[in-house]
Amino acid sequence: MRTAQIETVRSLAPEVGAVGGMPDAVTIYEVGPRDGLQNEKGVIPTAVKAEFVRRLLDAGLDTVETTSFVPQKWVPQLGDAAELIGQLGDLATGPKRPVLVPNMKGLERAQELGLSSIAVFGSATEAFAQKNLNRGREEQFEMFAPVVEQARAEGMWVRAYVSMCFGDPWEGPVPVSQVVDTCQRLMDLGCDQLSLGDTIGVGTYAHVHHLLDGLEDVGLGTDRIGVHFHDTYGQALSNTMAALSRGVRVVDASAGGLGGCPYAKSATGNLATEDLVWALEGMGIEHGVDLEKLVATSVWMAEQLGKPSVSRVVKALAG
Ligand code: HMG
Ligand code: MG
Repeated sequence: MRTAQIETVRSLAPEVGAVGGMPDAVTIYEVGPRDGLQNEKGVIPTAVKAEFVRRLLDAGLDTVETTSFVPQKWVPQLGDAAELIGQLGDLATGPKRPVLVPNMKGLERAQELGLSSIAVFGSATEAFAQKNLNRGREEQFEMFAPVVEQARAEGMWVRAYVSMCFGDPWEGPVPVSQVVDTCQRLMDLGCDQLSLGDTIGVGTYAHVHHLLDGLEDVGLGTDRIGVHFHDTYGQALSNTMAALSRGVRVVDASAGGLGGCPYAKSATGNLATEDLVWALEGMGIEHGVDLEKLVATSVWMAEQLGKPSVSRVVKALAG
Protein backbone atom coordinates (compact mmCIF):
# COMPACT_ATOMS: atom_id res chain seq x y z
CA MET A 1 0.00 0.00 0.00
CA ARG A 2 2.71 2.45 1.07
CA THR A 3 4.94 1.50 -1.87
CA ALA A 4 2.11 2.20 -4.28
CA GLN A 5 1.68 5.66 -2.77
CA ILE A 6 5.38 6.39 -3.09
CA GLU A 7 5.37 5.35 -6.74
CA THR A 8 2.37 7.54 -7.54
CA VAL A 9 3.80 10.66 -6.01
CA ARG A 10 7.33 10.12 -7.37
CA SER A 11 6.24 11.81 -10.58
CA LEU A 12 6.62 15.03 -8.55
CA ALA A 13 10.41 14.88 -8.78
CA PRO A 14 12.10 18.29 -8.64
CA GLU A 15 12.85 20.20 -11.82
CA VAL A 16 16.58 19.83 -12.41
CA GLY A 17 18.79 22.80 -13.14
CA ALA A 18 22.46 23.39 -12.39
CA VAL A 19 23.49 26.28 -10.17
CA GLY A 20 26.88 27.93 -10.52
CA GLY A 21 29.33 27.62 -7.66
CA MET A 22 27.96 24.31 -6.38
CA PRO A 23 29.91 21.02 -6.44
CA ASP A 24 29.16 18.41 -9.13
CA ALA A 25 28.89 15.61 -6.59
CA VAL A 26 28.35 15.28 -2.87
CA THR A 27 29.19 12.44 -0.50
CA ILE A 28 26.35 11.85 1.89
CA TYR A 29 27.71 10.66 5.22
CA GLU A 30 24.76 8.75 6.67
CA VAL A 31 24.55 8.91 10.47
CA GLY A 32 21.09 7.40 10.98
CA PRO A 33 22.19 4.13 12.62
CA ARG A 34 24.45 6.00 15.07
CA ASP A 35 23.24 9.58 15.69
CA GLY A 36 19.73 8.61 14.66
CA LEU A 37 19.33 5.74 17.08
CA GLN A 38 21.55 6.76 20.03
CA ASN A 39 18.76 8.84 21.55
CA GLU A 40 15.77 6.57 21.02
CA LYS A 41 13.84 5.69 24.16
CA GLY A 42 12.73 2.18 23.29
CA VAL A 43 15.03 -0.80 22.87
CA ILE A 44 15.74 -1.45 19.22
CA PRO A 45 16.68 -5.06 18.49
CA THR A 46 20.13 -5.51 16.98
CA ALA A 47 18.59 -7.35 14.02
CA VAL A 48 16.48 -4.26 13.22
CA LYS A 49 19.58 -2.04 13.31
CA ALA A 50 21.41 -4.44 11.00
CA GLU A 51 18.48 -4.47 8.61
CA PHE A 52 18.40 -0.64 8.72
CA VAL A 53 22.07 -0.51 7.68
CA ARG A 54 21.51 -3.06 4.90
CA ARG A 55 18.56 -1.12 3.54
CA LEU A 56 20.52 2.16 3.61
CA LEU A 57 23.33 0.54 1.65
CA ASP A 58 20.85 -0.94 -0.78
CA ALA A 59 19.39 2.55 -1.30
CA GLY A 60 22.81 3.67 -2.51
CA LEU A 61 24.24 5.27 0.61
CA ASP A 62 27.89 4.36 0.63
CA THR A 63 29.30 5.99 3.73
CA VAL A 64 27.31 4.81 6.74
CA GLU A 65 28.31 5.38 10.37
CA THR A 66 27.07 2.23 12.01
CA THR A 67 27.44 2.58 15.80
CA SER A 68 29.60 3.78 18.74
CA PHE A 69 32.18 2.08 20.89
CA VAL A 70 31.40 3.89 24.12
CA PRO A 71 30.52 2.39 27.52
CA GLN A 72 27.03 0.92 27.57
CA LYS A 73 26.12 2.96 30.63
CA TRP A 74 26.81 6.17 28.66
CA VAL A 75 24.73 5.24 25.61
CA PRO A 76 22.63 2.14 26.38
CA GLN A 77 20.95 2.28 22.97
CA LEU A 78 24.24 1.44 21.23
CA GLY A 79 25.43 -1.08 23.81
CA ASP A 80 25.10 -3.83 21.22
CA ALA A 81 27.84 -2.39 18.96
CA ALA A 82 29.87 -5.61 18.80
CA GLU A 83 26.78 -7.73 18.11
CA LEU A 84 25.70 -5.36 15.37
CA ILE A 85 29.09 -5.49 13.68
CA GLY A 86 28.97 -9.29 13.99
CA GLN A 87 25.58 -9.41 12.27
CA LEU A 88 26.70 -7.07 9.50
CA GLY A 89 29.92 -8.99 8.81
CA ASP A 90 31.82 -7.64 5.81
CA LEU A 91 29.29 -4.84 5.36
CA ALA A 92 30.59 -3.21 8.54
CA THR A 93 34.32 -3.46 8.09
CA GLY A 94 35.08 -1.46 4.96
CA PRO A 95 36.68 1.99 4.91
CA LYS A 96 33.33 3.70 4.55
CA ARG A 97 31.74 2.29 7.70
CA PRO A 98 33.05 4.51 10.52
CA VAL A 99 32.18 4.04 14.16
CA LEU A 100 32.46 6.52 17.02
CA VAL A 101 35.44 5.94 19.30
CA PRO A 102 36.27 8.29 22.19
CA ASN A 103 39.31 6.64 23.76
CA MET A 104 41.86 3.80 23.61
CA LYS A 105 39.41 1.29 25.02
CA GLY A 106 36.98 2.13 22.21
CA LEU A 107 39.75 1.86 19.62
CA GLU A 108 40.81 -1.56 20.91
CA ARG A 109 37.22 -2.79 20.71
CA ALA A 110 36.87 -1.51 17.14
CA GLN A 111 40.20 -2.98 16.06
CA GLU A 112 39.42 -6.39 17.57
CA LEU A 113 36.44 -6.50 15.21
CA GLY A 114 38.53 -5.58 12.20
CA LEU A 115 37.06 -2.12 11.63
CA SER A 116 39.08 0.30 9.56
CA SER A 117 37.43 3.65 10.06
CA ILE A 118 36.71 5.66 13.22
CA ALA A 119 35.49 9.05 14.35
CA VAL A 120 36.63 10.81 17.49
CA PHE A 121 34.28 13.48 18.78
CA GLY A 122 35.44 16.64 20.47
CA SER A 123 33.68 19.70 21.79
CA ALA A 124 34.27 23.38 21.08
CA THR A 125 32.97 24.23 24.55
CA GLU A 126 33.97 23.37 28.08
CA ALA A 127 30.41 22.61 29.21
CA PHE A 128 29.70 20.03 26.54
CA ALA A 129 33.15 18.44 26.89
CA GLN A 130 32.31 17.88 30.56
CA LYS A 131 28.81 16.55 29.89
CA ASN A 132 29.64 14.38 26.88
CA LEU A 133 33.18 13.23 27.59
CA ASN A 134 33.46 13.58 31.37
CA ARG A 135 36.53 15.79 31.02
CA GLY A 136 37.47 19.37 30.18
CA ARG A 137 37.98 20.85 26.73
CA GLU A 138 41.76 20.78 27.19
CA GLU A 139 41.77 17.21 28.49
CA GLN A 140 39.84 15.94 25.47
CA PHE A 141 42.88 16.44 23.24
CA GLU A 142 44.96 14.26 25.60
CA MET A 143 42.32 11.53 25.34
CA PHE A 144 42.15 11.68 21.55
CA ALA A 145 45.88 12.03 20.77
CA PRO A 146 46.92 8.38 21.32
CA VAL A 147 43.72 7.16 19.66
CA VAL A 148 44.41 9.10 16.47
CA GLU A 149 48.10 8.24 16.54
CA GLN A 150 47.54 4.50 16.87
CA ALA A 151 44.65 4.42 14.42
CA ARG A 152 46.64 6.28 11.76
CA ALA A 153 49.74 4.15 12.39
CA GLU A 154 47.61 1.10 11.63
CA GLY A 155 46.20 2.61 8.46
CA MET A 156 42.76 3.53 9.73
CA TRP A 157 40.76 6.49 8.44
CA VAL A 158 39.96 9.00 11.16
CA ARG A 159 37.28 11.67 11.27
CA ALA A 160 37.15 14.40 13.92
CA TYR A 161 33.76 15.73 14.93
CA VAL A 162 33.56 19.06 16.66
CA SER A 163 30.32 19.65 18.57
CA MET A 164 28.73 22.97 19.55
CA CYS A 165 30.29 24.84 16.62
CA PHE A 166 27.37 27.26 16.39
CA GLY A 167 26.10 27.62 19.95
CA ASP A 168 25.95 25.74 23.22
CA PRO A 169 22.85 25.34 25.42
CA TRP A 170 24.86 25.99 28.60
CA GLU A 171 27.38 28.59 27.38
CA GLY A 172 25.33 30.40 24.72
CA PRO A 173 27.16 31.80 21.68
CA VAL A 174 30.49 30.16 20.88
CA PRO A 175 33.14 32.45 19.37
CA VAL A 176 34.28 31.40 15.89
CA SER A 177 37.91 31.68 17.10
CA GLN A 178 37.24 29.07 19.81
CA VAL A 179 35.69 26.69 17.30
CA VAL A 180 38.55 27.21 14.86
CA ASP A 181 41.08 26.53 17.62
CA THR A 182 39.33 23.27 18.53
CA CYS A 183 39.16 22.18 14.89
CA GLN A 184 42.80 23.02 14.30
CA ARG A 185 44.00 21.13 17.35
CA LEU A 186 42.01 18.03 16.43
CA MET A 187 43.21 18.10 12.84
CA ASP A 188 46.79 18.64 14.05
CA LEU A 189 46.52 15.25 15.76
CA GLY A 190 46.42 13.75 12.25
CA CYS A 191 42.72 13.30 11.49
CA ASP A 192 41.67 12.92 7.86
CA GLN A 193 38.40 14.77 7.98
CA LEU A 194 36.66 17.34 10.13
CA SER A 195 32.90 17.41 10.71
CA LEU A 196 31.44 20.68 11.95
CA GLY A 197 28.64 19.84 14.34
CA ASP A 198 25.69 22.11 14.94
CA THR A 199 24.61 19.88 17.78
CA ILE A 200 21.58 21.95 18.80
CA GLY A 201 20.69 23.28 15.36
CA VAL A 202 20.97 27.01 16.10
CA GLY A 203 23.34 27.96 13.26
CA THR A 204 22.25 30.06 10.31
CA TYR A 205 23.41 30.63 6.73
CA ALA A 206 25.68 33.59 7.49
CA HIS A 207 27.18 31.88 10.54
CA VAL A 208 28.25 28.96 8.36
CA HIS A 209 30.08 31.34 6.06
CA HIS A 210 31.80 33.04 9.00
CA LEU A 211 33.02 29.75 10.41
CA LEU A 212 34.28 28.54 7.04
CA ASP A 213 36.09 31.89 6.64
CA GLY A 214 37.75 31.37 10.01
CA LEU A 215 38.82 27.83 9.12
CA GLU A 216 40.13 28.93 5.73
CA ASP A 217 42.23 31.62 7.46
CA VAL A 218 44.13 28.90 9.34
CA GLY A 219 44.54 26.69 6.29
CA LEU A 220 41.65 24.32 6.88
CA GLY A 221 40.07 24.21 3.45
CA THR A 222 36.72 22.76 2.54
CA ASP A 223 38.34 19.73 0.90
CA ARG A 224 38.81 18.30 4.41
CA ILE A 225 35.53 19.50 5.91
CA GLY A 226 32.14 17.87 6.32
CA VAL A 227 29.08 19.50 7.87
CA HIS A 228 26.76 18.01 10.47
CA PHE A 229 23.62 20.02 10.99
CA HIS A 230 20.86 19.11 13.40
CA ASP A 231 17.56 20.59 12.33
CA THR A 232 16.15 21.90 15.60
CA TYR A 233 15.43 25.39 14.22
CA GLY A 234 14.71 24.28 10.64
CA GLN A 235 18.02 25.65 9.34
CA ALA A 236 19.84 22.45 8.44
CA LEU A 237 19.17 22.46 4.71
CA SER A 238 19.79 26.17 4.32
CA ASN A 239 23.05 25.80 6.25
CA THR A 240 24.02 22.91 4.02
CA MET A 241 23.49 25.12 0.96
CA ALA A 242 25.81 27.71 2.50
CA ALA A 243 28.48 25.04 3.00
CA LEU A 244 28.08 23.60 -0.50
CA SER A 245 28.41 27.05 -2.03
CA ARG A 246 31.81 27.24 -0.31
CA GLY A 247 33.03 23.94 -1.74
CA VAL A 248 32.12 21.51 1.04
CA ARG A 249 31.40 18.12 -0.52
CA VAL A 250 30.66 15.92 2.48
CA VAL A 251 27.29 16.33 4.15
CA ASP A 252 26.10 14.38 7.19
CA ALA A 253 22.45 13.40 7.20
CA SER A 254 20.16 10.93 8.86
CA ALA A 255 17.52 8.86 7.09
CA GLY A 256 14.08 10.07 8.05
CA GLY A 257 15.60 12.90 10.11
CA LEU A 258 16.23 10.61 13.08
CA GLY A 259 18.64 11.80 15.70
CA GLY A 260 19.68 13.76 18.73
CA CYS A 261 22.32 13.72 21.40
CA PRO A 262 21.54 12.24 24.82
CA TYR A 263 24.00 14.68 26.40
CA ALA A 264 22.84 17.91 24.74
CA LYS A 265 19.64 19.64 25.76
CA SER A 266 17.41 20.48 22.77
CA ALA A 267 19.32 18.45 20.18
CA THR A 268 16.76 17.05 17.77
CA GLY A 269 17.23 15.06 14.58
CA ASN A 270 19.85 15.59 11.91
CA LEU A 271 19.18 16.98 8.48
CA ALA A 272 16.96 14.32 6.90
CA THR A 273 18.78 12.44 4.15
CA GLU A 274 15.65 12.47 1.98
CA ASP A 275 15.35 16.28 2.26
CA LEU A 276 19.00 16.61 1.28
CA VAL A 277 18.62 14.22 -1.66
CA TRP A 278 15.60 16.15 -2.97
CA ALA A 279 17.55 19.41 -2.90
CA LEU A 280 20.68 17.88 -4.48
CA GLU A 281 18.62 16.27 -7.20
CA GLY A 282 17.05 19.63 -8.04
CA MET A 283 20.49 21.14 -8.52
CA GLY A 284 21.74 18.24 -10.62
CA ILE A 285 24.35 17.34 -7.99
CA GLU A 286 25.32 13.66 -7.99
CA HIS A 287 24.58 11.84 -4.75
CA GLY A 288 24.17 8.18 -5.66
CA VAL A 289 20.98 7.58 -3.69
CA ASP A 290 17.75 5.96 -4.86
CA LEU A 291 15.21 8.26 -3.18
CA GLU A 292 12.36 5.81 -3.52
CA LYS A 293 14.24 3.05 -1.74
CA LEU A 294 15.42 5.47 0.91
CA VAL A 295 11.89 6.74 1.62
CA ALA A 296 10.69 3.14 1.85
CA THR A 297 13.50 2.48 4.36
CA SER A 298 12.46 5.42 6.52
CA VAL A 299 8.82 4.35 6.37
CA TRP A 300 9.90 0.86 7.46
CA MET A 301 12.09 2.30 10.25
CA ALA A 302 9.25 4.55 11.43
CA GLU A 303 7.11 1.43 11.78
CA GLN A 304 9.85 -0.24 13.85
CA LEU A 305 10.11 2.82 16.10
CA GLY A 306 6.35 3.31 16.32
CA LYS A 307 6.44 6.97 15.31
CA PRO A 308 6.31 8.83 12.00
CA SER A 309 9.39 10.19 10.29
CA VAL A 310 9.97 13.93 10.73
CA SER A 311 11.42 14.28 7.22
CA ARG A 312 9.30 16.61 5.08
CA VAL A 313 10.17 14.63 1.96
CA VAL A 314 9.26 11.31 3.56
CA LYS A 315 5.93 12.82 4.65
CA ALA A 316 5.30 14.26 1.20
CA LEU A 317 6.14 11.09 -0.69
CA ALA A 318 4.76 8.48 1.68
CA GLY A 319 2.46 10.29 4.08
P1 HMG B 1 34.44 7.83 31.84
O1 HMG B 1 33.35 7.30 32.72
O2 HMG B 1 35.19 9.04 32.29
O3 HMG B 1 35.45 6.66 31.42
O4 HMG B 1 33.78 8.16 30.44
P2 HMG B 1 36.64 6.00 32.19
O5 HMG B 1 37.83 6.03 31.30
O6 HMG B 1 36.79 6.60 33.57
O7 HMG B 1 36.18 4.48 32.36
C1 HMG B 1 35.06 4.12 33.15
C2 HMG B 1 34.64 2.69 32.80
O8 HMG B 1 34.19 2.62 31.45
C3 HMG B 1 35.80 1.69 32.89
O9 HMG B 1 35.23 0.45 33.26
C4 HMG B 1 36.30 1.57 31.48
O10 HMG B 1 36.93 0.37 31.17
C5 HMG B 1 34.99 1.70 30.70
P3 HMG B 1 35.31 -0.11 34.77
O11 HMG B 1 36.78 -0.17 35.10
O12 HMG B 1 34.57 0.90 35.61
O13 HMG B 1 34.63 -1.43 34.69
N1 HMG B 1 35.20 2.27 29.37
C6 HMG B 1 34.72 1.74 28.25
N2 HMG B 1 33.98 0.65 27.99
C7 HMG B 1 33.66 0.40 26.71
N3 HMG B 1 34.03 1.21 25.68
C8 HMG B 1 34.76 2.32 25.90
C9 HMG B 1 35.14 2.60 27.23
N4 HMG B 1 35.83 3.62 27.77
C10 HMG B 1 35.87 3.40 29.08
N5 HMG B 1 35.11 3.11 24.88
C11 HMG B 1 33.93 8.41 28.05
C12 HMG B 1 34.53 8.75 29.40
C13 HMG B 1 34.59 9.27 27.01
C14 HMG B 1 34.16 6.95 27.79
C15 HMG B 1 32.40 8.73 28.15
O14 HMG B 1 32.25 10.05 28.53
C16 HMG B 1 31.69 8.52 26.83
O15 HMG B 1 31.58 7.42 26.33
N6 HMG B 1 31.12 9.58 26.25
C17 HMG B 1 30.44 9.48 24.95
C18 HMG B 1 29.02 9.94 25.07
C19 HMG B 1 28.38 9.81 23.69
O16 HMG B 1 28.51 8.79 23.02
N7 HMG B 1 27.65 10.88 23.25
C20 HMG B 1 26.97 10.88 22.00
C21 HMG B 1 27.88 10.93 20.81
S1 HMG B 1 28.53 12.54 20.47
C22 HMG B 1 27.31 13.26 19.47
O17 HMG B 1 26.25 12.73 19.31
C23 HMG B 1 27.66 14.53 18.75
C24 HMG B 1 27.91 14.32 17.24
O18 HMG B 1 26.78 13.75 16.61
C25 HMG B 1 28.23 15.67 16.57
C26 HMG B 1 27.24 16.77 16.88
O19 HMG B 1 26.02 16.58 16.66
O20 HMG B 1 27.69 17.80 17.38
C27 HMG B 1 29.11 13.38 17.00
MG1 MG C 1 25.04 14.81 15.96
